[in-house]
Amino acid sequence: MSNLLSIDDLKDDLENIISWAITFKQDSEVAPEFTPLDGLTIASIYEKPSTRTRVSFEVGINKLGGNPLTLLKGDIQLGKSETVADTAQVLSRYISAITYRCFAHSDVNELANNSSVPVINALSDKHHPCQAAADLMTIKEKFADLKGVKIAWVGDGNNVLHDLMLAGAILGCDIHWAVPKGYEPDDDVVERAQEIADESGSILLQTHDPVEAVTDADVIYTDVFVSMGEENLSDKMDNFDGFQVNDELVSHAKEEYIFMHCLPAHRGEEVSDSVIDSSNSVVFDQAENRMWAQMSILTYLVDRQAWDTYAELLEYD
Ligand code: CP
Ligand code: NVA
Repeated sequence: MSNLLSIDDLKDDLENIISWAITFKQDSEVAPEFTPLDGLTIASIYEKPSTRTRVSFEVGINKLGGNPLTLLKGDIQLGKSETVADTAQVLSRYISAITYRCFAHSDVNELANNSSVPVINALSDKHHPCQAAADLMTIKEKFADLKGVKIAWVGDGNNVLHDLMLAGAILGCDIHWAVPKGYEPDDDVVERAQEIADESGSILLQTHDPVEAVTDADVIYTDVFVSMGEENLSDKMDNFDGFQVNDELVSHAKEEYIFMHCLPAHRGEEVSDSVIDSSNSVVFDQAENRMWAQMSILTYLVDRQAWDTYAELLEYD
């Protein structure tokens, strides 16, 4: 039984999981006949708000024949009179997988350690693996060959960057991230990404200069400067002067570059309207691809046989 806590957990099959999702999306007339979650309930716990993750999981689970059960933290005992570990054991008696959006990454680890069904991290303060799977899927749709694609990150060294860096290194992309001093990604994640990059041939580079990062980039990616749970860090925003992705900054990228953002975007802060609304922007493809990527991941984790069977059908088509 496997879990998805960071995208590194899917390292050996990430390329196939993404290819599966792309073909399944293209082949979506087949989808009504493919119901590996028939009769199964998948629970999703949210400690933080969500639009894309919640809707894409609920719709994707329905499409796969399953029943989504969304549990908002305010409505369940978790965090009030029940521990994460007990919640994991109880839910494991009813349902077939759990997705969990939490604050502390240690909580999703604890849920996974005490669950007898697969656990999927639906965003923690450290990792956002479902986002990274959808993002690499989106990049692959635009650049068929991922090897050597240059991804530039501009902004905070946060949860989304962590999994983008790991996923990009797994699939052979180069990742250059520009972050203000003091907002670098976590050392343990960078070290792990570098180990993976040493195998795949990716180049990883950290800078504090956004222009250096985006020069000749194929992909420019940004995210909010202040993540959920950091709202009390009222002066954090002051350290991001010069890190907005705007027309001047993107003029240093390749002409056919794509602009990416996990959304929700704070327009006028990390990105200008002119960039996010430009024809280079693929932010709504990313949002759609959350659903297809997660359908591939759920099938892979809950019914590997069905995932393998569909993958074989694809190969012989
Ligand atoms: N990108 C993302 O995870 O969006 P939500 O917070 O709306 O789920
Ligand atoms: N870094 C952001 C991502 C939101 C999808 C956050 O954690 O709030």
